[in-house]
Formats: sequence, C-alpha cells, structure tokens
Amino acid sequence: MRLVFSLIAYSLAPLASHFSIVIFLILRGLEMDSATLQEEIESFFESAPPLKDSAKITDKLNQFIQFDSPSLGKGRRVVCVTSGGTTVPLEQRCVRYIDNFSSGHRGAASTEYFIKAGYKVIFLYRRGTCQPYCSSLPEDPLLECFEVADDSGFQVRQSHSEAVKGGIRNHHAAVAGGLLLKLPFTTIFEYLQMLRIIASSMRSLERHAMFYLAAAVSDFYVPWKSMAEHKIQSASGPLNMRLMQVPKMLSVLRTNWTPMAFCVSFKLETDTKILLEKANMALKKYKMHSVVANELLTRKEEVTVVTGNGNISVRRDKTRPGSEVEDPLVELLVNKHSTYIKDASLSK
Ligand code: PMT
Repeated sequence: MRLVFSLIAYSLAPLASHFSIVIFLILRGLEMDSATLQEEIESFFESAPPLKDSAKITDKLNQFIQFDSPSLGKGRRVVCVTSGGTTVPLEQRCVRYIDNFSSGHRGAASTEYFIKAGYKVIFLYRRGTCQPYCSSLPEDPLLECFEVADDSGFQVRQSHSEAVKGGIRNHHAAVAGGLLLKLPFTTIFEYLQMLRIIASSMRSLERHAMFYLAAAVSDFYVPWKSMAEHKIQSASGPLNMRLMQVPKMLSVLRTNWTPMAFCVSFKLETDTKILLEKANMALKKYKMHSVVANELLTRKEEVTVVTGNGNISVRRDKTRPGSEVEDPLVELLVNKHSTYIKDASLSK
C-alpha cells in the first residue's frame, strides 16, 4: 500500500512543481496587472486638472453623511447614485469635447425610489441631465409651466400646477430632511475625482454604504498635459489625436476606496448577444455585488440583474400606467443590500 502511495506521489511530483510554476506565473501576472492599473490610476489623477471646491465638497459630504434626525436613529443607509455621461475635453479652454450617451433618467428615477425606501442619496450627476422629482415636468419648465398674471407677477399654469407642486414639495422635503445631496460634474476628470472623495467619505459607513453606478463613463481621454490649450484650428487639416484609456475605477473602488460597500455597476450594450457575457465578466473582474445589464433600446422596459447566484430579469409593470423599471429594480437591490448587511451581523 505504502509503495502505491509512494509511486503516486513520485509520479505527481513533477506535475506539482509544474502547477506551482503556473500558479506562481498567474499570481505574478495578477500582481503586475494590479501594479500597472495602480500606475495608470495615479497618472490619471496626477494629470487631471485639480477639482475646484474640493474642500467645500468634502465638508458638504461629511455634514450630509453625519446628519441624521434623532427620530431616524443610527445606521441609516447611504447610496451614491451616479447619473449622466462624462465628457472628455479636447482643449483646455474647451470648445470641443467627446460625450457619452446618458439622459440621466435612470439615475434620477432611481434616486426617488431609494429615498422612498429610506436611503440617503448622494446624487452625482452630469449638469443639464434629468433631475429627481422633475419627470412630470415639460422639457422647458420655466417657460412652459408659468405665465405672466399681470405686470407685477406670474403664476403656474393650471395644466402644470400638480406636477410643479408635487416636484417642489418632494424635492424640498428630501433636501430639508437630509436625504438628498446633489453634486454636479461635467468632465471625466471631475467625475472620477468626486467619486473618489465620495467613496472616502462613505468608507466609515462600512456595509451600510451602497454605490449604484449608472453614469456612462468615458473609456478614453486626452491627458490634461498633452491637451492643446487653445481651440484646435481646422485650417491645419485632418486631426490626429491619441487618446489614453481611462483606467476602470471599479476595482479600486471595491478593493481600496470602500472595501465594505455594496457595489452595483451597469453594463450597457447595443448587441444583446454579448450583453450578459460582458456583465458576467464585469461581475467577476471588478468583484461587483451585482451588475445591471441593459440594452439601449429596451432599457426603460427591462434590465437583467447579474449576481453570483444567477441572473434576475426585472421588468416594468405594464399594467400600471406611468410605472418605471427603476421601481422593481431598486426594490430588488435594496433587498440584496439588506441581506448583505445581515450576513455581516450573522458572521460576528
Ligand atoms: O441615463 P439613461 O438615458 O436613463 O440611460 C441609462 C444608462 C443606459 C446610461 C445606464 O443604465 C447604464 O447602463 N450606465 C452605464 C453605461 C456604461 O458606461 O457602461 P460601460 O460598459 O462603459 O461601463 C460599465 C461600468 O464601468 C459603469 O458602471 C461605469 O460606471 C464603469 N466605468 C466605466 C468606464 C471607466 N473608465 N471606469 C468605470 O468605472
């Protein structure tokens, strides 16, 4: 018997050393990958134009996170909802820029449902995109909702009065109740610097923090230092420009900035054949808790929530007029977040 074991051990020995070399190489590869990513991230932030008002933003965030009315008690959950697309300027005194598609509807509607579910929301949004509590208003609310009553004043048109009253009431209640903090961005530089500040402010919340990353984030950018200062002249002929890859911040958010937060990222594709595969890849590669997969044309009707335990299809309730897919989506994610928080208390 001992002889058989010795023979097996002997025959597996070269294999074992082969395996250990393979494992060593994989680990080394991962180490180098993460070192390269770290370098890319550092170089991105170093080359970014410094964020204006960063101290003010940090103060606002700390006040917002710490403020809780006594009746609510401790342990309130906070979610950072990102919304809208980031721009990539082509000139420092920017005339031209590359944009990313996102109306901001997903982020604005989700913010309302998170507040309804009892969350405090940090709404990091692109200037000029959809805002919470404004979905019932027309495109140009100031000009369309109001009319001049007489020489001394103006009034809300009867046809829009419910929408205006409801929007103002809900928005003011959320802000005054310390449930909504809105922070605007335009460029990729502003967005990522703000996301990093928000993450560091939310770190102390541990598992009570959630990130809901619905913003459409640029994949390529022109580093600030190599960017033309003035408007690029068309008289110089065709434009030849080298864009650098924006480092994916999802893994650094998960592992360094807020390791305990519940993280939900989004995957947008126009080709349904690759959508779920790409969402699954993002789930594993960036260690997300859930990835919301959506296709451009059907994104308002249905999404698929990809998790480590399988995929869940979420649809808008078509039998209810005005219903939105963000309603059941946020409900599902809030439940998943609750389980995530409970799991930690069970394992103590
Ligand atoms: O705003 P709407 O019109 O309502 O549309 C909503 C939406 C379609 C924009 C939204 O549901 C959505 O899918 N948002 C993510 C779109 C996107 O940019 O996908 P992506 O594959 O490029 O990025 C995937 C994830 O990586 C995102 O969560 C993004 O925050 C993150 N990312 C992306 C690039 C980058 N350099 N760093 C990142 O962290």
